[in-house]
Amino acid sequence: MCGIIGYVGPSKVKNILLQGLSQLEYRGYDSAGIAVVGDDGSIHVEKQVGQVKNLKDHCSTMDFDGHVGIGHTRWATHGGVTRENTHPHKQGKVTLCHNGIIENYQSIITAHGFESQLVSETDTEVAAALFNENFNGDPEECIRKTVNELEGSYAFCIIFEGFADRIYCVRNVSPMVASSTKNGSLLASDLTAVIRYSRRYFVIPEYTITVLYDDHIDLFDMDGNTVTPDILEVNWDMESAQKGGYDPFMLKEIHEQPEAIRKNITPRLVNGIPNFEADGIPADAFDHIKAINVVACGTAMYAGMVGKAIIEPVIKIPVQVNIASEFRYSTPLIDSDTLTIVVSQSGETIDTLAGLRKAKECGSKVLAIVNVKGSTIARESDYVLYTHAGPEIAVAITKAYSVQLASFYLISGYMAMRRGIKTVEETREFIEKLDKTIDAISYVLDNKDIIKKAVKKISVARDCYFIGRGLDYAFSMEGSLKLKEISYIHAEAYAAGELKHGTIALIEEGVPVIAFATQDYVYNKSISNIREVKARGAYVILITKENAVIPEDICDMHLTVPIKDDLFTGLPTVAILQLIAYYTSVSKGLNVDKPRNLAKAVTVE
Ligand code: G6P
Repeated sequence: MCGIIGYVGPSKVKNILLQGLSQLEYRGYDSAGIAVVGDDGSIHVEKQVGQVKNLKDHCSTMDFDGHVGIGHTRWATHGGVTRENTHPHKQGKVTLCHNGIIENYQSIITAHGFESQLVSETDTEVAAALFNENFNGDPEECIRKTVNELEGSYAFCIIFEGFADRIYCVRNVSPMVASSTKNGSLLASDLTAVIRYSRRYFVIPEYTITVLYDDHIDLFDMDGNTVTPDILEVNWDMESAQKGGYDPFMLKEIHEQPEAIRKNITPRLVNGIPNFEADGIPADAFDHIKAINVVACGTAMYAGMVGKAIIEPVIKIPVQVNIASEFRYSTPLIDSDTLTIVVSQSGETIDTLAGLRKAKECGSKVLAIVNVKGSTIARESDYVLYTHAGPEIAVAITKAYSVQLASFYLISGYMAMRRGIKTVEETREFIEKLDKTIDAISYVLDNKDIIKKAVKKISVARDCYFIGRGLDYAFSMEGSLKLKEISYIHAEAYAAGELKHGTIALIEEGVPVIAFATQDYVYNKSISNIREVKARGAYVILITKENAVIPEDICDMHLTVPIKDDLFTGLPTVAILQLIAYYTSVSKGLNVDKPRNLAKAVTVE
């Protein structure tokens, strides 16, 4: 949610900031702005509503530059999408960018009488006014005093007048990484903006005053003690964060799935058997637990639904899947017998983080399935399974979801073996089947043209329904989310048997229904439900396993996945659903990678 970049160094800063904002744009694209310190110490601020491109075009006609600067791309929270509300905000001697939400902004305005001096509607400008009021020539003292008064989440990147050679940063919850390179110091909301300049970086610790100079970075805790950050190394390169011939990113990331899954699974197999030792997860971590509690948001939560459908019938322990924003304010019935699995691509989603903390308070151990190395969720969990999908830029999650599913398969196989439910040989066969799904995804991708045809009816529809039973229902939730996210078509997923309890009233001539019947044990039941919608005029796209013999006239289009075992239909099925959403969005001429109103990393409640 919002992207921040800052640079201090020998190079000209304007293009570094604009380039960094482009990399961070998936975090928000309502408006963007930069502040550059000129050689005389004056601060030049430029802002534009809309995508970073608008700011780039605007700045290309202007003659200003410097060696110190900060930039921000905004996902609007407080206040509309206007130039005034765009960061950086300047109040007196303080110019800053902010990611997060200041919850007590209203009481700060009242207590300090700031009303008349604010030009925007943002909580950020209130924070800027507070920093400015507390600034008596000592930036560090000002930061200490100000953060004491602030409630909420924040990552601030600040330039103080009179300190033109440096940038200050302080954060609570909202992410920020930094890197000191031979060619200056950088900070950014995430690595994608830094990796072009350095593979070595550190996560700025919370409540630490971080000061970037051109040749080094200093860190102090709130008592003024020096802090030494943990230096991390990126294990992917710039190319992974580029389009590499694909346009847009989403299509590239859909195609990267076979490779991403391989990277996820292969290093965790010892003689064909899952092993999490290299991840630092003790062999007995799953042995004595009586329940699993999944906490996540959005697509990650839907991955948890698939995890439940994979684990429960095999391991025979309850798996509860929780929406993190609900779980964090609930009274969870969990304790040390429960393993909590938090799932998050970014590792920064604030509700998931709060859910993690709540689970820990209840005495539950926490395992994180996370993509971003060193992220807050990864750091706060007891155990981490990194998904190794590489950077994902499109806002709609694709490959990061597939590797989350792969992680649940690995966990399920591992638990089954440890608990004596599967022999070593059976576990090996289970993993071989998982491995075969990679080829099945490639098959779907190689035959994607047929999906292009399937979306003709969907792209002109107002509503679209996804129906399935069991695992099919779990995939259909992700399919419907994907479609509504990037095509703006109203889409809902229903347990196929539930449709007739109300929703079938919405089925009329031509309404697209994407129906799944990949699960043998409920195949006939699913087919009956599909007949019910077909009889009411639905345009049915049916997805089955490749050998399914389907009744005549049951569907208008039939897509298949080359898988024999019910438990493993998920990954190729999901590739179909992603392509349906993708081609629908493309055929409507929409911005596939940056759908309206959304952001990839949601660091606000
Ligand atoms: C946002 C994204 C979703 C994502 C969710 C959880 O809403 O737009 O695509 O599923 O956050 O993100 P996480 O990083 O925790 O997986």
